Amino acid sequence: MKHETPSFHIGPIPIHGDVILSPMDGFSDWPFRSLCRQLGSAMSYTEFIKAEDILEPPKQIADKLRYEEDERPVVIQLYGDDPDVMLAAATRAQELGADIVDVNMGCPSKTIAKRGAGVGLMRTPLKVARIFKLLSASLDIPLTGKIRLGWDDDCRNYPLIARIVEENGGAMIALHGRTKEQGYGGKANWEAIAEVKDAVNIPVIGNGDVVTVADINRMKEYTNCDAVMIGRAAIGNPWIFSRLDREKVSFEQVRQMMLKHLERNLAFYDPEIGLVLFRKHAARYLSPYPLSKEFRKKLLTSECPEEFLSLLDEIFESVNLSPREGGYHPGPRSHIG
Ligand SMILES: Cc1cc2nc3c(=O)[nH]c(=O)nc-3n(C[C@H](O)[C@H](O)[C@H](O)COP(=O)(O)O)c2cc1C
Repeated sequence: MKHETPSFHIGPIPIHGDVILSPMDGFSDWPFRSLCRQLGSAMSYTEFIKAEDILEPPKQIADKLRYEEDERPVVIQLYGDDPDVMLAAATRAQELGADIVDVNMGCPSKTIAKRGAGVGLMRTPLKVARIFKLLSASLDIPLTGKIRLGWDDDCRNYPLIARIVEENGGAMIALHGRTKEQGYGGKANWEAIAEVKDAVNIPVIGNGDVVTVADINRMKEYTNCDAVMIGRAAIGNPWIFSRLDREKVSFEQVRQMMLKHLERNLAFYDPEIGLVLFRKHAARYLSPYPLSKEFRKKLLTSECPEEFLSLLDEIFESVNLSPREGGYHPGPRSHIG
């Protein structure tokens, strides 16, 4: 949805729109996030990047740092726990043209959280304060933080961390309404998002369990958050950013999107890698359709773009298109494969 007037600002940066693709390692790379941005995601987050890696980017990180001008505002998300390294990394992100630097305080992965980065940083509030104070005083661009509820039920310190972020120069907080211990299970706590929105004067982005257009509106109404962030439910479903529910998307739209997405992957990466990285997206685009196990396997293990495209054609040619233009009819006419 195009918004002429900004929905809100992060520091001086106007944000046009109130639905945003979550940063997702392994998914929100340039091909996918640029498609989501075109469909209405209001800003573009990189996947998280280790602070040390941005200082001397290996090839894989270089790909993560690439963006296009029309993606702006571009957020480079960093994780780390050493204030000096974080400062050097954030300064580098600024030099690379980021509009915003975001500090990841949500990653639950053992290797990251146990060393005190990602959600592990929430266990050391003084360090959060030091990082935000140091970086916000040095950067010319806004600094933001993405947090969880806390480590576990005994340490749900999101109100403290949100206050610390604000008091030390943070310009926005995104809150995923789960603890580290919950991982991605259980139900996201929207009450906590409402609580943080009430407690701080900087914008708050709510995150967790938004799956449908109705959920976007429900989270906004329930929490009064400035914008909603969508992660897993956007995979294979970028139309959510146009406020179009998946069941209203026609086969032809799916086909066109898959071709466009694959084309971007093949051009952005080496074609071989581009295809391999596209498989997990393809699986999600096709998940509503009853393909046979053998056919799905053949498609998702194909190593040749031409073969992949011809298998895709087979799927879409055998689809039982509805006389109703754009209708959703999940049954292929023949049993594919
Ligand atoms: C595969 C995957 C990768 C993720 N990578 C990141 C990341 O790089 N940075 C980050 O802040 N959050 C990351 N997240 C968390 C999401 O941004 C989001 O907070 C979480 O999925 C909850 O939102 P959802 O219920 O809409 O999926 C990741 C989540 C998933 C499932």
